[in-house]
Amino acid sequence: MTLPRLSFLGTGYLGATYAICFAELGYDVLGVDVDEVKIATLASGRVPFHEPGLDDLLRRNLAAGRLRFTTSYQEAAGFADVHFICVGTPQRADGMSADLTYVESAVTNLAPLLHRRALIVGKSTVPVGTATWVEQLVAKLSDPALGVEVAWSPEFLQEGYAVEDVLRPNRIVAGIKSTWANELFRAAHKGVFDLAATEDRDVPLVVTDFATAELVKVAANAFLATKISFINAMAEVCEVAGADVTQLARAIGYDPRIGNRFLQAGLGFGGGCLPKDIRAFQARAQELGAGEAVRFLHEVDLINTRRRGRVLQMAAELLERPAGPAGPNLSGTKVAVLGAAFKPNSDDVRDAPSLAAAAGLAAAGAEVRVYDPQAMENARREQPHLTYAPTLTDAVEGVALVVVATEWAEFRNADPVLLGGLVAARRVIDGRNCLDPAQWARAGWTYRGMGRPPA
Ligand code: UGA
Repeated sequence: MTLPRLSFLGTGYLGATYAICFAELGYDVLGVDVDEVKIATLASGRVPFHEPGLDDLLRRNLAAGRLRFTTSYQEAAGFADVHFICVGTPQRADGMSADLTYVESAVTNLAPLLHRRALIVGKSTVPVGTATWVEQLVAKLSDPALGVEVAWSPEFLQEGYAVEDVLRPNRIVAGIKSTWANELFRAAHKGVFDLAATEDRDVPLVVTDFATAELVKVAANAFLATKISFINAMAEVCEVAGADVTQLARAIGYDPRIGNRFLQAGLGFGGGCLPKDIRAFQARAQELGAGEAVRFLHEVDLINTRRRGRVLQMAAELLERPAGPAGPNLSGTKVAVLGAAFKPNSDDVRDAPSLAAAAGLAAAGAEVRVYDPQAMENARREQPHLTYAPTLTDAVEGVALVVVATEWAEFRNADPVLLGGLVAARRVIDGRNCLDPAQWARAGWTYRGMGRPPA
Protein backbone atom coordinates (compact mmCIF):
# COMPACT_ATOMS: atom_id res chain seq x y z
CA MET A 1 0.00 0.00 0.00
CA THR A 2 1.36 3.42 -0.88
CA LEU A 3 1.57 5.85 1.98
CA PRO A 4 -0.73 8.88 1.86
CA ARG A 5 0.87 12.25 1.23
CA LEU A 6 0.69 14.64 4.15
CA SER A 7 0.47 18.39 4.54
CA PHE A 8 0.93 20.24 7.82
CA LEU A 9 -0.89 23.57 7.87
CA GLY A 10 1.00 25.90 10.19
CA THR A 11 4.74 25.40 10.69
CA GLY A 12 5.08 26.75 14.20
CA TYR A 13 6.39 24.51 16.95
CA LEU A 14 3.80 21.78 16.45
CA GLY A 15 3.52 21.77 12.65
CA ALA A 16 7.25 22.02 11.93
CA THR A 17 8.06 19.22 14.37
CA TYR A 18 5.36 16.96 12.93
CA ALA A 19 6.26 17.72 9.31
CA ILE A 20 9.92 16.91 9.93
CA CYS A 21 9.28 13.77 12.00
CA PHE A 22 6.70 12.34 9.58
CA ALA A 23 9.14 12.86 6.69
CA GLU A 24 11.64 10.94 8.81
CA LEU A 25 9.07 8.13 9.06
CA GLY A 26 9.06 7.91 5.26
CA TYR A 27 6.08 10.06 4.25
CA ASP A 28 6.11 12.65 1.48
CA VAL A 29 5.43 15.82 3.42
CA LEU A 30 4.60 19.43 2.67
CA GLY A 31 4.83 22.08 5.40
CA VAL A 32 2.55 25.05 4.75
CA ASP A 33 2.53 28.49 6.34
CA VAL A 34 1.46 32.01 5.42
CA ASP A 35 4.65 33.32 7.06
CA GLU A 36 7.21 33.58 4.25
CA VAL A 37 10.16 34.05 6.60
CA LYS A 38 9.32 30.89 8.53
CA ILE A 39 8.95 28.90 5.33
CA ALA A 40 12.21 30.24 3.87
CA THR A 41 14.04 29.44 7.13
CA LEU A 42 12.77 25.86 7.22
CA ALA A 43 13.38 25.35 3.50
CA SER A 44 16.98 26.47 4.00
CA GLY A 45 17.48 23.74 6.61
CA ARG A 46 17.14 25.79 9.80
CA VAL A 47 14.60 25.18 12.56
CA PRO A 48 13.41 28.61 13.81
CA PHE A 49 13.25 27.44 17.47
CA HIS A 50 15.40 25.32 19.77
CA GLU A 51 14.42 21.66 19.86
CA PRO A 52 17.11 19.02 20.43
CA GLY A 53 17.65 16.74 17.41
CA LEU A 54 15.25 18.49 15.05
CA ASP A 55 17.82 20.37 12.92
CA ASP A 56 19.54 17.17 11.80
CA LEU A 57 16.25 15.52 10.89
CA LEU A 58 15.18 18.60 8.93
CA ARG A 59 18.35 18.67 6.84
CA ARG A 60 18.34 14.92 6.26
CA ASN A 61 14.76 14.88 5.01
CA LEU A 62 15.10 18.00 2.86
CA ALA A 63 18.11 16.34 1.22
CA ALA A 64 16.16 13.09 0.75
CA GLY A 65 13.46 15.06 -1.09
CA ARG A 66 10.68 13.81 1.21
CA LEU A 67 10.09 17.20 2.80
CA ARG A 68 9.21 20.54 1.23
CA PHE A 69 7.83 23.83 2.49
CA THR A 70 5.48 26.26 0.79
CA THR A 71 3.29 29.30 1.37
CA SER A 72 0.84 28.04 -1.26
CA TYR A 73 -2.43 26.49 -0.09
CA GLN A 74 -3.08 25.73 -3.76
CA GLU A 75 -0.03 23.50 -3.79
CA ALA A 76 -1.09 21.84 -0.52
CA ALA A 77 -4.58 21.14 -1.86
CA GLY A 78 -3.15 19.46 -4.94
CA PHE A 79 -0.47 17.55 -3.04
CA ALA A 80 -1.84 15.90 0.08
CA ASP A 81 -4.33 13.17 0.95
CA VAL A 82 -4.30 14.15 4.61
CA HIS A 83 -4.04 17.75 5.83
CA PHE A 84 -3.12 18.32 9.48
CA ILE A 85 -4.22 21.61 11.04
CA CYS A 86 -1.34 22.66 13.30
CA VAL A 87 -1.95 26.39 13.71
CA GLY A 88 -1.89 28.16 17.07
CA THR A 89 -4.92 28.85 19.25
CA PRO A 90 -3.66 31.73 21.41
CA GLN A 91 -5.41 33.27 24.39
CA ARG A 92 -7.83 36.05 23.53
CA ALA A 93 -7.53 39.55 25.00
CA ASP A 94 -10.09 38.51 27.66
CA GLY A 95 -7.25 36.51 29.25
CA MET A 96 -9.30 33.31 29.24
CA SER A 97 -10.85 31.99 26.01
CA ALA A 98 -9.09 30.58 22.92
CA ASP A 99 -8.78 32.52 19.68
CA LEU A 100 -9.76 30.30 16.73
CA THR A 101 -8.92 32.81 13.99
CA TYR A 102 -5.98 30.78 12.68
CA VAL A 103 -7.95 27.53 12.61
CA GLU A 104 -10.69 29.29 10.69
CA SER A 105 -8.30 30.83 8.17
CA ALA A 106 -6.43 27.52 7.57
CA VAL A 107 -9.74 25.79 6.79
CA THR A 108 -11.08 28.72 4.77
CA ASN A 109 -7.86 28.83 2.72
CA LEU A 110 -7.75 25.10 2.05
CA ALA A 111 -11.31 23.80 1.66
CA PRO A 112 -12.37 25.69 -1.51
CA LEU A 113 -9.14 24.63 -3.28
CA LEU A 114 -9.55 20.88 -2.75
CA HIS A 115 -10.28 18.99 -5.95
CA ARG A 116 -10.05 15.43 -4.69
CA ARG A 117 -11.19 13.62 -1.60
CA ALA A 118 -9.07 14.39 1.44
CA LEU A 119 -9.06 14.07 5.20
CA ILE A 120 -8.53 17.18 7.32
CA VAL A 121 -7.15 16.28 10.76
CA GLY A 122 -7.19 18.94 13.46
CA LYS A 123 -4.25 18.78 15.87
CA SER A 124 -4.44 22.24 17.44
CA THR A 125 -5.65 22.45 21.04
CA VAL A 126 -9.21 23.74 20.79
CA PRO A 127 -12.35 24.29 22.86
CA VAL A 128 -14.72 21.33 22.73
CA GLY A 129 -17.12 21.77 19.81
CA THR A 130 -14.53 23.14 17.39
CA ALA A 131 -14.23 19.95 15.30
CA THR A 132 -17.95 19.98 14.56
CA TRP A 133 -17.73 23.65 13.61
CA VAL A 134 -14.75 22.88 11.31
CA GLU A 135 -16.71 20.01 9.77
CA GLN A 136 -19.59 22.40 9.00
CA LEU A 137 -17.17 24.95 7.55
CA VAL A 138 -15.58 22.31 5.32
CA ALA A 139 -19.02 21.14 4.15
CA LYS A 140 -19.90 24.71 3.25
CA LEU A 141 -16.63 25.59 1.51
CA SER A 142 -15.61 22.40 -0.31
CA ASP A 143 -17.21 20.66 -3.28
CA PRO A 144 -19.78 18.27 -1.71
CA ALA A 145 -19.16 15.69 -4.45
CA LEU A 146 -15.62 15.16 -3.11
CA GLY A 147 -16.69 13.91 0.32
CA VAL A 148 -13.94 15.69 2.26
CA GLU A 149 -13.94 14.57 5.90
CA VAL A 150 -12.68 15.88 9.21
CA ALA A 151 -11.02 14.10 12.16
CA TRP A 152 -9.57 15.50 15.38
CA SER A 153 -6.36 14.15 16.87
CA PRO A 154 -4.86 16.11 19.75
CA GLU A 155 -1.13 16.03 20.36
CA PHE A 156 0.70 15.52 23.61
CA LEU A 157 4.30 16.38 22.77
CA GLN A 158 6.48 18.09 25.31
CA GLU A 159 8.92 20.77 24.25
CA GLY A 160 12.46 19.52 24.67
CA TYR A 161 11.34 15.93 23.95
CA ALA A 162 9.31 16.68 20.84
CA VAL A 163 11.12 14.40 18.36
CA GLU A 164 10.86 11.42 20.67
CA ASP A 165 7.23 12.23 21.56
CA VAL A 166 6.18 12.39 17.88
CA LEU A 167 8.10 9.33 16.72
CA ARG A 168 7.30 7.31 19.83
CA PRO A 169 4.05 8.62 21.34
CA ASN A 170 2.58 6.84 24.35
CA ARG A 171 -0.83 6.92 22.66
CA ILE A 172 -2.66 8.35 19.67
CA VAL A 173 -6.15 9.73 20.20
CA ALA A 174 -8.50 10.51 17.34
CA GLY A 175 -12.09 11.64 16.96
CA ILE A 176 -13.10 9.87 13.74
CA LYS A 177 -16.51 9.46 12.14
CA SER A 178 -16.29 7.02 9.19
CA THR A 179 -14.53 3.82 8.18
CA TRP A 180 -12.91 5.65 5.25
CA ALA A 181 -11.52 8.33 7.56
CA ASN A 182 -10.41 5.67 10.04
CA GLU A 183 -8.45 3.75 7.40
CA LEU A 184 -6.81 6.88 5.99
CA PHE A 185 -5.95 8.12 9.48
CA ARG A 186 -4.29 4.79 10.29
CA ALA A 187 -2.37 4.87 6.99
CA ALA A 188 -1.20 8.38 7.86
CA HIS A 189 0.19 6.99 11.14
CA LYS A 190 1.45 3.66 9.81
CA GLY A 191 5.04 4.85 10.19
CA VAL A 192 4.51 5.39 13.93
CA PHE A 193 2.89 1.97 14.42
CA ASP A 194 5.55 0.21 12.31
CA LEU A 195 8.39 1.83 14.25
CA ALA A 196 6.75 0.72 17.51
CA ALA A 197 6.41 -2.84 16.19
CA THR A 198 10.10 -3.01 15.26
CA GLU A 199 10.95 -1.92 18.80
CA ASP A 200 8.48 -4.34 20.35
CA ARG A 201 6.33 -1.53 21.74
CA ASP A 202 2.64 -0.90 21.48
CA VAL A 203 1.10 2.49 20.63
CA PRO A 204 -2.56 2.38 21.63
CA LEU A 205 -4.94 4.13 19.23
CA VAL A 206 -7.97 5.48 21.07
CA VAL A 207 -10.74 6.24 18.60
CA THR A 208 -13.49 8.45 19.97
CA ASP A 209 -16.15 10.94 18.94
CA PHE A 210 -15.07 14.53 18.24
CA ALA A 211 -15.99 16.00 21.62
CA THR A 212 -14.14 13.32 23.57
CA ALA A 213 -10.98 13.73 21.47
CA GLU A 214 -11.01 17.49 22.03
CA LEU A 215 -11.58 17.07 25.74
CA VAL A 216 -8.85 14.43 26.18
CA LYS A 217 -6.28 17.07 25.35
CA VAL A 218 -7.49 19.76 27.73
CA ALA A 219 -8.22 17.19 30.43
CA ALA A 220 -4.65 15.88 30.17
CA ASN A 221 -3.15 19.36 30.45
CA ALA A 222 -5.56 20.29 33.25
CA PHE A 223 -4.50 17.18 35.16
CA LEU A 224 -0.80 17.94 34.72
CA ALA A 225 -1.30 21.57 35.80
CA THR A 226 -3.30 20.38 38.83
CA LYS A 227 -0.56 17.93 39.79
CA ILE A 228 2.05 20.70 39.69
CA SER A 229 -0.13 23.12 41.65
CA PHE A 230 -0.92 20.39 44.17
CA ILE A 231 2.74 19.88 44.97
CA ASN A 232 3.29 23.64 45.03
CA ALA A 233 0.41 23.98 47.51
CA MET A 234 2.16 21.33 49.62
CA ALA A 235 5.34 23.41 49.29
CA GLU A 236 3.52 26.38 50.82
CA VAL A 237 2.45 24.22 53.76
CA CYS A 238 5.94 22.73 54.08
CA GLU A 239 7.43 26.22 54.28
CA VAL A 240 5.37 27.15 57.33
CA ALA A 241 5.64 23.71 58.93
CA GLY A 242 9.41 23.42 58.47
CA ALA A 243 9.04 20.33 56.24
CA ASP A 244 10.73 19.43 52.97
CA VAL A 245 8.48 19.15 49.92
CA THR A 246 11.10 17.31 47.85
CA GLN A 247 11.12 14.44 50.36
CA LEU A 248 7.34 14.60 50.60
CA ALA A 249 7.02 14.35 46.79
CA ARG A 250 9.43 11.45 46.65
CA ALA A 251 7.58 9.62 49.37
CA ILE A 252 4.09 10.04 47.89
CA GLY A 253 5.37 9.37 44.37
CA TYR A 254 6.33 5.78 45.24
CA ASP A 255 2.61 5.02 45.30
CA PRO A 256 1.99 4.03 41.66
CA ARG A 257 -1.51 5.53 41.89
CA ILE A 258 0.15 8.91 42.40
CA GLY A 259 3.37 8.43 40.40
CA ASN A 260 6.55 10.44 40.81
CA ARG A 261 6.47 12.58 37.66
CA PHE A 262 5.21 16.18 37.53
CA LEU A 263 5.65 16.51 41.28
CA GLN A 264 8.55 18.94 41.11
CA ALA A 265 7.71 21.90 43.33
CA GLY A 266 9.21 25.24 42.39
CA LEU A 267 8.31 28.36 40.47
CA GLY A 268 5.32 26.63 38.87
CA PHE A 269 4.25 25.96 35.32
CA GLY A 270 4.57 28.28 32.35
CA GLY A 271 4.89 27.97 28.59
CA GLY A 272 2.51 28.29 25.71
CA CYS A 273 0.22 25.45 26.78
CA LEU A 274 -0.64 24.66 30.40
CA PRO A 275 -1.51 28.20 31.59
CA LYS A 276 -3.56 29.13 28.52
CA ASP A 277 -5.20 25.72 28.23
CA ILE A 278 -6.57 25.66 31.77
CA ARG A 279 -8.02 29.14 31.26
CA ALA A 280 -9.60 28.32 27.89
CA PHE A 281 -11.03 25.15 29.44
CA GLN A 282 -12.70 27.16 32.20
CA ALA A 283 -14.10 29.65 29.66
CA ARG A 284 -15.53 26.89 27.46
CA ALA A 285 -16.95 24.88 30.38
CA GLN A 286 -18.62 28.06 31.61
CA GLU A 287 -20.19 28.63 28.18
CA LEU A 288 -21.51 25.09 28.21
CA GLY A 289 -22.98 25.50 31.71
CA ALA A 290 -20.37 23.34 33.48
CA GLY A 291 -18.26 26.16 34.90
CA GLU A 292 -18.65 24.84 38.42
CA ALA A 293 -17.13 21.47 37.47
CA VAL A 294 -13.79 23.06 36.64
CA ARG A 295 -13.82 25.93 39.11
CA PHE A 296 -10.88 24.28 40.90
CA LEU A 297 -8.73 25.18 37.88
CA HIS A 298 -9.03 28.79 38.95
CA GLU A 299 -7.38 27.80 42.23
CA VAL A 300 -4.75 25.80 40.30
CA ASP A 301 -3.94 29.00 38.40
CA LEU A 302 -3.82 31.09 41.59
CA ILE A 303 -1.46 28.69 43.36
CA ASN A 304 0.75 28.79 40.29
CA THR A 305 0.88 32.59 40.15
CA ARG A 306 1.55 32.80 43.89
CA ARG A 307 4.80 30.83 43.46
CA ARG A 308 6.20 33.55 41.23
CA GLY A 309 5.55 36.18 43.89
CA ARG A 310 7.08 33.97 46.57
CA VAL A 311 10.53 34.47 45.03
CA LEU A 312 10.29 38.20 45.63
CA GLN A 313 9.17 37.63 49.22
CA MET A 314 12.06 35.20 49.80
CA ALA A 315 14.53 37.62 48.23
CA ALA A 316 13.36 40.38 50.57
CA GLU A 317 13.74 38.06 53.58
CA LEU A 318 17.20 36.90 52.54
CA LEU A 319 18.39 40.43 51.78
CA GLU A 320 16.80 41.63 55.03
CA ARG A 321 14.65 44.19 53.29
CA PRO A 322 11.33 44.14 55.15
CA ALA A 323 8.35 44.99 52.96
CA GLY A 324 6.90 48.50 53.13
CA PRO A 325 3.29 49.35 52.22
CA ALA A 326 4.19 49.12 48.51
CA GLY A 327 5.87 45.72 48.96
CA PRO A 328 9.56 44.95 49.32
CA ASN A 329 12.12 47.55 48.29
CA LEU A 330 15.22 45.96 46.80
CA SER A 331 16.80 49.11 45.41
CA GLY A 332 20.57 49.09 45.37
CA THR A 333 20.79 45.28 45.35
CA LYS A 334 22.22 43.25 42.50
CA VAL A 335 20.47 40.00 41.67
CA ALA A 336 21.34 37.33 39.07
CA VAL A 337 18.41 35.39 37.63
CA LEU A 338 19.62 32.16 36.05
CA GLY A 339 17.19 30.95 33.41
CA ALA A 340 14.68 32.68 31.16
CA ALA A 341 13.13 29.76 29.26
CA PHE A 342 9.93 28.36 30.79
CA LYS A 343 11.77 25.06 31.19
CA PRO A 344 15.18 23.62 30.31
CA ASN A 345 16.08 22.41 26.78
CA SER A 346 13.83 25.05 25.28
CA ASP A 347 14.22 28.65 24.10
CA ASP A 348 10.53 29.30 24.68
CA VAL A 349 9.83 32.19 27.08
CA ARG A 350 6.04 32.31 26.74
CA ASP A 351 4.53 32.90 30.17
CA ALA A 352 7.88 31.89 31.69
CA PRO A 353 7.87 31.87 35.53
CA SER A 354 11.58 32.75 35.40
CA LEU A 355 11.03 36.00 33.50
CA ALA A 356 8.01 36.85 35.65
CA ALA A 357 10.15 36.43 38.77
CA ALA A 358 12.93 38.52 37.20
CA ALA A 359 10.45 41.26 36.28
CA GLY A 360 9.05 41.19 39.84
CA LEU A 361 12.52 41.62 41.36
CA ALA A 362 13.27 44.46 38.93
CA ALA A 363 9.96 46.15 39.74
CA ALA A 364 10.94 46.04 43.43
CA GLY A 365 14.06 48.05 42.56
CA ALA A 366 16.70 45.31 42.25
CA GLU A 367 19.34 45.52 39.54
CA VAL A 368 18.54 42.25 37.79
CA ARG A 369 20.87 40.47 35.41
CA VAL A 370 19.40 37.53 33.48
CA TYR A 371 21.28 34.70 31.80
CA ASP A 372 19.93 31.72 29.85
CA PRO A 373 21.90 29.23 27.74
CA GLN A 374 19.38 29.27 24.84
CA ALA A 375 16.56 31.75 25.32
CA MET A 376 18.38 35.11 25.42
CA GLU A 377 17.08 36.38 22.11
CA ASN A 378 13.46 35.54 22.89
CA ALA A 379 13.81 36.85 26.44
CA ARG A 380 15.15 40.19 25.22
CA ARG A 381 12.17 40.53 22.93
CA GLU A 382 9.72 39.61 25.73
CA GLN A 383 11.28 41.67 28.55
CA PRO A 384 13.42 44.34 26.84
CA HIS A 385 13.81 46.44 30.00
CA LEU A 386 15.76 43.72 31.86
CA THR A 387 19.55 43.48 31.68
CA TYR A 388 21.05 40.37 30.13
CA ALA A 389 24.47 38.82 30.77
CA PRO A 390 26.29 36.85 28.06
CA THR A 391 27.51 34.08 30.37
CA LEU A 392 26.75 32.53 33.75
CA THR A 393 29.87 34.06 35.30
CA ASP A 394 29.01 37.53 33.94
CA ALA A 395 25.54 37.18 35.43
CA VAL A 396 26.69 36.36 38.97
CA GLU A 397 29.69 38.73 39.15
CA GLY A 398 29.28 40.95 42.22
CA VAL A 399 25.63 40.09 42.98
CA ALA A 400 24.11 39.88 46.45
CA LEU A 401 21.68 37.13 45.47
CA VAL A 402 21.49 34.37 42.86
CA VAL A 403 18.06 33.05 41.81
CA VAL A 404 17.97 29.78 39.87
CA ALA A 405 14.75 30.05 37.88
CA THR A 406 15.11 27.34 35.20
CA GLU A 407 16.78 24.02 35.94
CA TRP A 408 19.25 23.95 33.03
CA ALA A 409 22.07 21.38 33.46
CA GLU A 410 24.54 24.29 33.34
CA PHE A 411 23.08 25.61 36.61
CA ARG A 412 22.46 22.22 38.25
CA ASN A 413 26.09 21.29 37.65
CA ALA A 414 27.57 24.70 38.49
CA ASP A 415 30.34 24.63 41.09
CA PRO A 416 29.17 26.58 44.18
CA VAL A 417 32.77 27.11 45.30
CA LEU A 418 33.70 28.71 41.99
CA LEU A 419 30.54 30.85 41.86
CA GLY A 420 31.06 31.78 45.51
CA GLY A 421 34.31 33.47 44.48
CA LEU A 422 32.47 35.71 42.01
CA VAL A 423 29.48 36.98 43.98
CA ALA A 424 29.42 39.79 46.54
CA ALA A 425 27.37 37.66 48.97
CA ARG A 426 26.65 33.93 48.93
CA ARG A 427 22.87 33.80 48.88
CA VAL A 428 20.93 31.55 46.59
CA ILE A 429 17.22 30.96 45.96
CA ASP A 430 16.74 27.63 44.25
CA GLY A 431 13.47 28.34 42.43
CA ARG A 432 13.41 24.84 40.92
CA ASN A 433 14.76 22.77 43.83
CA CYS A 434 17.42 21.52 41.47
CA LEU A 435 20.54 22.16 43.57
CA ASP A 436 21.98 20.10 46.42
CA PRO A 437 21.38 22.27 49.52
CA ALA A 438 24.11 20.54 51.54
CA GLN A 439 26.73 21.07 48.80
CA TRP A 440 25.87 24.77 48.51
CA ALA A 441 25.78 25.22 52.29
CA ARG A 442 29.22 23.58 52.54
CA ALA A 443 30.51 26.15 50.05
CA GLY A 444 29.31 28.90 52.38
CA TRP A 445 26.02 29.76 50.68
CA THR A 446 22.79 30.65 52.45
CA TYR A 447 20.40 28.40 50.57
CA ARG A 448 16.62 28.75 50.20
CA GLY A 449 14.59 26.24 48.21
CA MET A 450 10.88 26.25 47.42
CA GLY A 451 9.07 24.41 50.20
CA ARG A 452 12.28 23.29 51.89
CA PRO A 453 13.84 24.24 55.19
CA PRO A 454 16.69 26.78 54.95
CA ALA A 455 20.20 25.34 54.61
C1 UGA B 1 2.72 20.46 28.02
C2 UGA B 1 2.30 19.00 28.23
O1 UGA B 1 3.21 18.38 29.15
C3 UGA B 1 2.32 18.23 26.91
O2 UGA B 1 1.86 16.91 27.11
C4 UGA B 1 1.38 18.97 25.93
O3 UGA B 1 1.37 18.32 24.67
C5 UGA B 1 1.86 20.39 25.76
O4 UGA B 1 1.86 21.06 27.04
C6 UGA B 1 0.91 21.09 24.82
O5 UGA B 1 -0.26 21.28 25.17
O6 UGA B 1 1.30 21.36 23.67
P1 UGA B 1 5.09 21.69 27.64
O7 UGA B 1 4.33 22.97 27.64
O8 UGA B 1 6.12 21.44 26.60
O9 UGA B 1 4.06 20.44 27.53
O10 UGA B 1 5.82 21.62 29.04
P2 UGA B 1 5.82 20.68 30.33
O11 UGA B 1 6.98 19.79 30.29
O12 UGA B 1 4.49 20.10 30.54
O13 UGA B 1 6.10 21.77 31.46
C7 UGA B 1 5.19 22.83 31.68
C8 UGA B 1 5.64 23.67 32.83
O14 UGA B 1 5.46 22.97 34.04
C9 UGA B 1 7.11 24.11 32.79
O15 UGA B 1 7.18 25.47 33.14
C10 UGA B 1 7.75 23.25 33.85
O16 UGA B 1 8.86 23.87 34.44
C11 UGA B 1 6.62 23.08 34.84
N1 UGA B 1 6.72 21.87 35.68
C12 UGA B 1 6.67 20.64 35.10
C13 UGA B 1 6.83 22.02 37.04
O17 UGA B 1 6.86 23.13 37.59
N2 UGA B 1 6.90 20.88 37.81
C14 UGA B 1 6.87 19.65 37.28
O18 UGA B 1 6.93 18.67 38.05
C15 UGA B 1 6.75 19.53 35.90
